[in-house]
Amino acid sequence: MIRGLVMVLCMTADFDFRLDLTHRPRRLRRTAALRAMANETDLHVHNLIQPLFVIDGDGASEAIESMPGISRLTIPLLVQECRELADLGIPAVALFPKLDNSLKTDNGREALNPETLVLRAIRTIKNEVPEMVVITDLALDPYTVHGHDGLFDVQAGDLINDATVEILAEMAVLAAEAGADFVAPSDMMDGRVGAIREALDKNHFEKTSIMAYSAKFASAFYGPFRDAVGSASSAGTHLLDKRSYQLNPGNRREALVEVALDEGEGADVLMVKPAGPYLDIIREVRDATELPLAAYQVSGEYAQIQAAAQNGWLDLERCRDESLLAIRRAGANMILTYFARAYAESLRRT
Ligand code: PBG
Repeated sequence: MIRGLVMVLCMTADFDFRLDLTHRPRRLRRTAALRAMANETDLHVHNLIQPLFVIDGDGASEAIESMPGISRLTIPLLVQECRELADLGIPAVALFPKLDNSLKTDNGREALNPETLVLRAIRTIKNEVPEMVVITDLALDPYTVHGHDGLFDVQAGDLINDATVEILAEMAVLAAEAGADFVAPSDMMDGRVGAIREALDKNHFEKTSIMAYSAKFASAFYGPFRDAVGSASSAGTHLLDKRSYQLNPGNRREALVEVALDEGEGADVLMVKPAGPYLDIIREVRDATELPLAAYQVSGEYAQIQAAAQNGWLDLERCRDESLLAIRRAGANMILTYFARAYAESLRRT
């Protein structure tokens, strides 16, 4: 109290008050050059992966209301987008098809149609922008009426694990045939990474990599994505209950169990998702494995920054950059983010 008073007096008086300090960490923050020398974490465009939504036809793109700045693209527009992303230095895209509701069924069989939308998209991109790394999601949610990631047993109210895995493995082979560099199982079924690796190898796709959504939490932050791929409209809600397969948001050790299994089953890259609310998990996983680690800054994380910025409550660019840097600092090597393009463009401007 007295000391506080003294300090206030000194501040208003002649600034003569001196603490006897050995350590003054602020010395390294004094100038931009010093701050740059002491900088610990970098964010590069080559760390970023742009998720893209695909629709059929050759019409216009469709804006996604809950994801300002993001649209669903037809294949010709998608190719153009990939060209521009490659020119901006973004190395990879992750593809998500939005199907017409008429193609959705209980068992999601359109996923195994060799001419299905996402496979045509992969082929066209690999033809026209061959240097672009193409990652394709393996899960049934864009293809099922109920919006779940696998075959759904209505009576048990749960997914049928092993039969779903069998379909995912077939999807993986189709994606590899179409030219995908990575297949990315996002379904959280048990044993899928091993089954996918085996199916790929059996079909001589030993060069196709697996990016495993290893620690994927049952999150409400996926809401805007479910609008984007239409699983919300077919299921009637974006608050689908996926808690019987996605992780409990309170569980840290269980995330490490999943990660260890995926690593053992042959995953090439592991993933934590969402990213921002799960930075501690990213760090734990980074410390637990030597494999490259991806983190997915999901649709809801994107939407909340966009919404606050639209209201004038947050600075869009600075919150965007800070959120991405935090994910890197936590230990992610690659980040899937809807901000990838905008971030790369902002570097071009400076
Ligand atoms: C589903 C899938 C989801 C996302 C990627 N793949 C949503 C879900 O689990 O329902 C979410 C991505 C995002 O929110 O940006 N297989």
